Amino acid sequence: MHTHPLERFWIYLSAGLLVVFAFAVAFSSLVLGIEIPGIEDQAVPAAAAGEYPPNQGWIRELAPGRYEVNMMTRVWTFDPGEIRVPRGSTVTFYLHSADLLHGFRIQGTTVSLMAIPGQVGKVTYTFTTPGEYPFVCHEYCGVGHHLMSGRVIVEGN
Ligand code: CUA
Repeated sequence: MHTHPLERFWIYLSAGLLVVFAFAVAFSSLVLGIEIPGIEDQAVPAAAAGEYPPNQGWIRELAPGRYEVNMMTRVWTFDPGEIRVPRGSTVTFYLHSADLLHGFRIQGTTVSLMAIPGQVGKVTYTFTTPGEYPFVCHEYCGVGHHLMSGRVIVEGN
């Protein structure tokens, strides 16, 4: 069968790109260790359970420089809204939603998750540079969406 040289060129180019993309996915996953944030756990949304606990967020120090944060989102607050850790701390966030879909994006970091009712999102980040890291809700969640924010303060010099 005769294939026009130009057509053959595009066939090879398309196939070559697929190989390149497959290699890029394999490389980022196996070598660089980049993963899509996974679903850590399931939970009954507090709103569905008919309760709005006034305070379900907490920060716990597991060891020097290692923290766990239980982050509760609801219209239109983060709980806790302010997190203070020393420089170099590794913080694991467990993200919950008490009502509807929210976002959790810490500026200046790679942390970006959706807070899904009934699911627990998990992400770990090490704060190596001191300073203030604002976080915001980046999923539209109603009239107070733009007010939904907080900050991580990394202390030290
Ligand atoms: Cu919560 Cu937007």
